[in-house]
Formats: sequence, C-alpha cells, structure tokens
Amino acid sequence: MDLHNYLNSYKTTVETAMASSLYADSATPKKVVEAMTYSLEAGGKRIRPILVLAGAEAVGGSINDVMPLACAMEMIHTFSLVHDDLPAMDNDDLRRGKPTNHNVFGEAIAILAGDALLAEAFRLIAKLGETIDPKVAIEILSDVALATGHAGMVGGQVIDLESEGKTISVDELQQLHQLKTGKLIRVSVVSGAKCAGATTQQIESLTTYGEAIGLAFQIADDILDIEGSTEQLGKPQGSDTDSNKSTYPALIGMEESKRLATQVIDDAITALEGFDEKADPLRKIAKFIISRKK
Ligand code: IPE
Ligand code: IPE
Ligand code: MG
Ligand code: MG
Ligand code: MG
Repeated sequence: MDLHNYLNSYKTTVETAMASSLYADSATPKKVVEAMTYSLEAGGKRIRPILVLAGAEAVGGSINDVMPLACAMEMIHTFSLVHDDLPAMDNDDLRRGKPTNHNVFGEAIAILAGDALLAEAFRLIAKLGETIDPKVAIEILSDVALATGHAGMVGGQVIDLESEGKTISVDELQQLHQLKTGKLIRVSVVSGAKCAGATTQQIESLTTYGEAIGLAFQIADDILDIEGSTEQLGKPQGSDTDSNKSTYPALIGMEESKRLATQVIDDAITALEGFDEKADPLRKIAKFIISRKK
C-alpha cells in the first residue's frame, strides 16, 4: 500500500463525512456554526480520524461503521486546537494556514465554538449505539471522555501551562506529552478497533502501539516547532521557544529527541507483531509520524 495515497484518500473521506454530520436546525445560531465550520474545514492532516479507520481495518472492520467515531475524534482535536491558540493559552495567530479562530470570530465565540465541537463529538459517539453493540458504544464514550478531560488532554494542557519557563524532569515531560497529545491519539486507534470488534489481546497490543505513537507525535511536534517553517506548518514556527515551553529539544537536545522518537516508533511497530498485513497502514503511519514535515 502507498501511504501517501492512503492518507489523501481517507482525509477526503473524513472531510466529506464531517461536513454532513454537523447538526444544525433553524434555531441554531449561524455564528457559532460558522466558527465551528471555519476551524473544521481549515484542513489539517486528519491523523486521529485516520487512526480510527486504520485501527478498525487492522482487526478486519469496515471504515463506514466507524466513520462517526472518526469524525468525533477530529472534532475533539479541533476543539483542543481552537482553545490551545487562545490568548490565555498559547496565544497564537495562525492555525492550519489561516488566522486562528479567535482572530476571526473573537475570543468568546472561539471558546463557545470549541465547547460546541466537543459536545457535538459526544453526540456522534452516542449515535454509534444505533449501529454497534450499545455496551461497546458506551465503553468508547467513557474511554474518549477520559482521554479528553482532566485525566487526558485537558490535564496535559494544565501541566503544559504550569511548566512554562520551568525545568521539569524527563519523566514529567513524558507525562505531559502522554496526557496532552498521547491519550487522544491512543484512544483513536484503540476505540476504532473496539468498535470493529477487536479481541482483548488486539486491544492490548493497539494500546501499546497507540501510546508509543502518541508520545512520538508530540516529540515530533516539538522538533518541528524548531526545524519547520511557518509556511509549511501552517502555524507559527518558534511558538514554543517564545513561550518558554517545556519541550523535548529544550530539555534533552535535538539529537537525543530524534533518537528517542525513532526508538519509540520502533517499539510501536514491534507491538503490531501479532497483526497481519491489514495493519500495514498502522505500521506506515508510525513511521510517517516522525518523518513528517508538518
Ligand atoms: C497539532 O496536531 C497539535 C498537537 C497535538 C501536536 P496536528 O499536528 O495533528 O495538527 P493538524 O490537525 O494536522 O492541524
Ligand atoms: C497541543 O500542543 C496539544 C493540544 C492539546 C492542542 P501544542 O501547543 O504543542 O500544539 P501546537 O504546536 O500549537 O499545534
Ligand atoms: Mg499548547
Ligand atoms: Mg499550541
Ligand atoms: Mg506544538
């Protein structure tokens, strides 16, 4: 399989599905829908929804059955980016190559659009109960809630902000990365597979895989903040340095950060040993996570 074609084709599939899944009725204020759509349609790699699809495929499932979950994960991720860019947080002006949500719609609407994306995501996950075993749908709902909230991404964002301008230990940095980025990535691949009927052993292996690529994803993001360009990233290069963030390159140096990311990705691929060629997309996505330029 060709990863480039795979990513492009699934990105388009997810974007089409997202466009038709956003709820609105005649009483829904247009402004907030416009702000939600602005950030959802701005682009991005769509790596979390693609991991949902690839996780389902790895265990023999069909992508159509997990599409609402894929859309939900991208909505949660987009909400996290809208809030991450706010003046009270990273205070960034560019995201996905466009002015950030609060720069276009104002801070209040940006906060509310993020809130609404989060709520909409959980509505879509709840609807899974109509097509798969409702018990599994409820389990996924709970898994995604944990990965998103104070024990996951939100918790990681708190540690991230508290660690600005400080030197933290490598263990604390790993914890920060695992929470703010790792958990949502891990739950994407694991819940995609759960939705498609994965066995306990498959779930265990995919959990190890997801945890590893999640950590590597944020190490790569830290590296790109230094080595990437604003034009290519679609977000301001050097934002971490400007805000004195705790990052891998800042703490252990660039060379060691790259070595660690490669080692973590090797561990991720090893975790897939029990899977056949249906997991090849997951194997290639793992390598892509550290070779990407944006
Ligand atoms: C950026 O995520 C924020 C992190 C958690 C590192 P992505 O690199 O997936 O951003 P998009 O979705 O492609 O814009
Ligand atoms: C993002 O971390 C984590 C989120 C939960 C959004 P960053 O602050 O490093 O993400 P970018 O670099 O702004 O995309
Ligand atoms: Mg941040
Ligand atoms: Mg940021
Ligand atoms: Mg970053």
